[in-house]
Amino acid sequence: MNELNTIGEAKVNLEAKFLQKFQAPAEICARAPGRVNILGEHVDYNQGVVMPMAIDREVTILAKKVDRPVARLIALDLNEEVEFSLQGLEQKKDVTGKGLPRWALYPAGVAHVLQLKGLLVTGVEAMFQSTISIGSGLSSSAALEVGFAMVWSALGGWNEDPLTLAQDCQRAENEYVGVSCGLLDQFSSACGVKDHILFFDTRSLQWKALPFFTDMQIVIADSKVERSLTSSQYNRRRVTCEQAVELLRKFNPEIQSLRDISPVEFAAYSEYLPEEIRKRSEHVIKEIARVFSAVTALQRNDYRSFGALMYASHYSLRDYYEVSHPNLDFLVEQAHAIPGCYGARLTGAGFGGCTVNMVEKEAVDQFIEKLSNVYRVHFGIEPAIFRVKASQGAYWEKLGTD
Ligand code: GLA
Repeated sequence: MNELNTIGEAKVNLEAKFLQKFQAPAEICARAPGRVNILGEHVDYNQGVVMPMAIDREVTILAKKVDRPVARLIALDLNEEVEFSLQGLEQKKDVTGKGLPRWALYPAGVAHVLQLKGLLVTGVEAMFQSTISIGSGLSSSAALEVGFAMVWSALGGWNEDPLTLAQDCQRAENEYVGVSCGLLDQFSSACGVKDHILFFDTRSLQWKALPFFTDMQIVIADSKVERSLTSSQYNRRRVTCEQAVELLRKFNPEIQSLRDISPVEFAAYSEYLPEEIRKRSEHVIKEIARVFSAVTALQRNDYRSFGALMYASHYSLRDYYEVSHPNLDFLVEQAHAIPGCYGARLTGAGFGGCTVNMVEKEAVDQFIEKLSNVYRVHFGIEPAIFRVKASQGAYWEKLGTD
């Protein structure tokens, strides 16, 4: 994945490549950011509350409309190209009859869902690149989905509000790609607000943007451990949560999801649950409570409490939800010992990928150096540790009009 100096430079390079490849200039440029989840992990499919932010790493797509009903897509980072018909998308095949490569399932799935909704999906030639490393838990695939939804909205001349667009993309991932994810990733990419973190209630679909602690910086540490078995383990966790709800209904027939059980009620019921179900529910129920506490801590400018909630979240993901990885545990423990770091935890689905850290601004350089060194020495792997800024959600712009 190439690091790009400035967004402007990247766009000029991309426009030149587009022209060379397609023999005509691109009409629009769409951008969709990745996300980091600061708190509220594995709760979005339990109607819980989450606290993510869109980050300044993104997918950039250049596109132009074509008259034929096909999508001709070029993934620059992968050096791959695919062409598929927009008729018969459910077959998941390219124009030669070969199965679509995994990356192409995201745009194809989005096109399919938009068509099912009756929205115009035009033929397209597109080229894209990304500064979100693939498979690291920063939602490179959700950004690709949201980015292509933007492309078709721009070329088709229709408009949907960002949350609805996010839901379309989630549906594409659930029904077309086959991952039963919640709405966290697509929501963050579509609804991000510059310089703010987001508080999103996945039950009511209400959300708001909150300013973060002015003295604190969010730092991501990529363990470079590729996530493995993520989707099978992920889907299994979801099923266990559903089983928990079934069992807990015996005590309270009203409940629809784990969101409906308070930590106090859970303390009363937990001894009646089988061990695996008890541990998974304990994580979800207390993690939701932690997000509410974090909102209060933020309002009181109490970064110590906020950070403690991040650590507690990690330990719960490690011990109760069992989605951590030894390299992530190491990163969190080491971060905890570095002065100026107030909170750290794994972020995203887990099983590898990244940790998210809250570090005092003036301590960030030292933090990055120390954590990189200790990780490199211990595992012989060079991690990628970097600051991120909260950025605005996906948007598109017309090209060649200035
Ligand atoms: C993945 C999913 C999200 C969410 C997180 C865990 O990123 O796509 O919907 O469930 O895992 O919080």
